[in-house]
Parts: sequence; C-alpha cells; structure tokens
Amino acid sequence: MNVVHISAECYPVAKVGGLADVVGALPKYQNSATFSSQVIMPFYNNTFTKANTFNTVYESQLDLGGISYPFKILSLKETLLDFDIFFVHVPELLFKEYVYSNDDTERFLAFQIAALDWMLTWNTYPDYIHCHDHHTGLTPFMLQESFKYESFRKIPNILTIHNAQYQGWFSHKKVNLIPAFNFDNAGLLDWDGSVNPLAASIKCAWRVTTVSPSYMEELKTDANGLEDLLNHESAKCSGILNGIDWNVWNPETDNYLIANYNVKTVISGKKANKKHLCDSFNLDFNKPLFAFIGRLVGEKGSDLFPETFKDTLEKGEATILLLGSGHDETEMQLEGLKDNYKGSYNAFIGYDEALSHIIYAGADFLLMPSRVEPCGLNQMYALRYGTIPIVRSIGGLKDTVIDISEKNGFGICHTDVTVSDITNAIDRGVSLYKNKNTYKKLSAQIMGINHSWDASAKEYIKLYKSIKLEKI
Ligand code: ADP
Ligand code: GLC
Repeated sequence: MNVVHISAECYPVAKVGGLADVVGALPKYQNSATFSSQVIMPFYNNTFTKANTFNTVYESQLDLGGISYPFKILSLKETLLDFDIFFVHVPELLFKEYVYSNDDTERFLAFQIAALDWMLTWNTYPDYIHCHDHHTGLTPFMLQESFKYESFRKIPNILTIHNAQYQGWFSHKKVNLIPAFNFDNAGLLDWDGSVNPLAASIKCAWRVTTVSPSYMEELKTDANGLEDLLNHESAKCSGILNGIDWNVWNPETDNYLIANYNVKTVISGKKANKKHLCDSFNLDFNKPLFAFIGRLVGEKGSDLFPETFKDTLEKGEATILLLGSGHDETEMQLEGLKDNYKGSYNAFIGYDEALSHIIYAGADFLLMPSRVEPCGLNQMYALRYGTIPIVRSIGGLKDTVIDISEKNGFGICHTDVTVSDITNAIDRGVSLYKNKNTYKKLSAQIMGINHSWDASAKEYIKLYKSIKLEKI
C-alpha cells in the first residue's frame, strides 16, 4: 500500500508555516514494512535546492491553457529524508525563491498538472493521493472530472484542510487553465461566483480532514464562507490532530540548542538556554520570559500585541521576546516598543529556524492568543521543551491544552482574544512563576505529554483503509 502526498511545502525543503512541518513528518511516521508514503512538491530556487544535488527522473511539457511549459521531475541524489520525495521543476513558473506569490493560480495548477501527468506514466498507480490545502485543491476535481486523468478515477483521494482562511479563489475567466472536463460539471469548481479550489476539493475529495477535531466542528459554523458546504459534506469529514516530529523536536538532541536537556535536567537545561536569550536580547534573566513565535497576522491575534505588551511591561514583572514577521504595521509597532522597554522586551522581526528552537527551550511561557488555530504546532513544541503554553481555547489549542485550574491541567487558557484577556492570562503566568516549585514541577510534567506523530499517522492510515472497504 502506498500514498502520495502532494503539497506546496515540506520541511526541511521549503517552509512557511506548520504545513511544512506536517508534510515533512507525517510520511516518516506512515512508512512501515507494509506501507510507503512519499511526497511530491514544487522545486523552488531556495537554500535547500541550492545546497543539494538532484537527478532527473522524468522530463516532459505540460499544457496550461494552451501554453506549453517544459518541466522535469527531480529526485534527491542523496537520501537525506526518511521518505521518498520528488520535485516538480517548472523553470518558468515554480522556480522562485519564495513559496507563495500573486501568480499562484498558474503556479500551483502547473504543479498539480505536472505531478499528475508524471503519475500517468507510472507502471503502478498509487493506492491513495493525499492533497493539502487549496494549493493542491484542484487535484481531486481533476481526478474526478478531467478526461486526461480518467485512469485515476478509482484512486481514493483525501484532502487535509490546514487552514480554511485561504481558499485560492480565482476568476472563471481562467477556467480554461484546467485540463479538459465536462463543462456541465463546472459548478463543482464554483463557490459564490469564483473558482474556489478549496471548495472544489471539499466537494470532490473522497475524504476531508482538518488538522484537529475541534477545528472541523468550528468550520461548520465559521469557515470563511464554506460553512454550508462543510455541513453538507459532513459525512465524509473528520478531524485528525496533528502530531510533531518527535526526533526533530527533541531537547535532548536538538543541535540548535545552547544546552541539551531531558526531563531530569530540564531546570538547568532551560536555564542555560534562557541565559543565552537574555544575554543576546538584553532581557532581565530573573523575570519570567514570555515568548511568541509565528506569523504576525490577524489569525494569530498579533495585532493586539503592541497594546497587550505595553500593559504587561508597565507592571515590570515580566519580560517578552517575539520572533515573527507579517503585517507591516504590526511589525513597525513591535519594533517601536523596543526603545521604551529596554531590558524587558525585544523582538526579532524575520524568520529564523535556529532561534525558534532556542526560544521554545529558553522561554518560560509561550503565547498563542489565536483567533483561529486549525491545529497549532508551537504549543506542542513548547510542551516537549518544558515551556508552559498560554493559549486561547480554540481549534487545536483547545484539543491540546488544559488549564491549570482543571483536573490534570498544565497550561493557561483564555476564552477571548482581547487585550484584557491576554494580559490576565500573562498575569496568571507571572503568579505561577512566583511559585517556583509548582512551576518547575509543571515544566517537567509537560515534557512527558506525548504528541508524537505515531498515533495520528496510524489514524490517517486507518482512514485510507476505511475508504477501500467501501464499494467504489
Ligand atoms: P502556522 O502554520 O499557522 O503558521 P503552526 O503553529 O502550525 O502555525 O506552525 C508554525 C511553524 O512555523 C512552527 O514550526 C514555528 O516554529 C514556525 N515559525 C513561525 N514563524 C517563525 C519564525 N518567524 N521563525 C522561525 N520559525 C517560525
Ligand atoms: C496551518 C494552521 C496551523 C496548523 C498548520 C499545520 O498553517 O494555521 O494551525 O498547525 O497548518 O497543520
């Protein structure tokens, strides 16, 4: 049995957010003596592709609305990952430094067409095709409707929604980019007057999953316009909680850390990493360190940070360190705070994988006041590194963090995304930190919470197999 994942991102090749972490880990955990999992992704012009060498496994031309584009399928010369990975190289469209841009309709359609064209040449077709988010959302439609891919019609395909805020909308004027299909079925592409790849894949995929059970329930009442569709298709929908790559995110072996540690050495290990952060970012080591890592966008609640941070920092009992990038105005405001709160606040505006690991290890608390959080991986990384998560109870955060006031609780949860709710949650963190023994005990305790992919990878395979049991 085998599955092919088709995705725009995959760690460590190209990462913008959690999608990359998932597609870079799930296949490893799906692979076994009886199951093989592989990834097909675009070939970008980035650090990873510059640093490695590739073999050409296939070469052809793809047709995009009557224009012909040469493409190659590449594989890695050396076995660097724990699963097979293939790259779609369309020099004129995909080979850019960035993953996403404003011509994504053409870029990701070309990607999907090239991937499927190549698969048509395989001696044995895959047992399952697994698509991720709207970037690969036209694949289920093409598999079902395009005359070109008729021979794939019996391959069960699965869509995983990592984030329904982004749907890949484009105008019907571009519908001719999609390989020939019966125009009577063009309605499958449409949602509210646009071609909507996410909606099309919810309609056409054999199964639809979200990256946490709570997010699936939430989407049925608020899915950026797709609520009715998800309710209508609910029989084939379910939520499977993401896991984390237990080996990559392991404080005992993590090469990025200043000091490695395990559950027995968590106090001294975290201290050494915190010391490094405090020295590098001029922060008072003796105060609790609250950190944020992520995209500075409305979904993450980051627009409220400038005011929230001011309120907290004025009280003088906490330090704050932020790593992220996103909205220009938020970035500017967060940069602006630096001068007023020297010694207790700092921010690194940008993307830095190594620094993120040190922050997960060195911070005392991790903030995630998300308005929307389909799963969230950061809170699971924080737990693995003994850092207490402070989260808004929504989506995957609700499914993974229990408030300390509850039985078996270990985190701090708040219900609203307001300055006062976030500030109160931080205040609760400050109080918890003052009770040194409780804090230390909790920090060691949460390191034992197992969010490895083991269980969820099995759930996906169970889901695939359940499709096979049905009459096709
Ligand atoms: P999302 O995919 O919505 O951005 P997730 O919590 O699923 O959120 O995953 C975010 C991933 O991206 C994590 O691995 C996190 O550490 C990483 N990340 C986000 N922003 C940055 C940044 N500025 N620098 C380094 N890593 C980051
Ligand atoms: C999306 C979501 C995030 C999730 C990630 C991986 O980017 O915003 O919550 O963890 O995908 O599934």
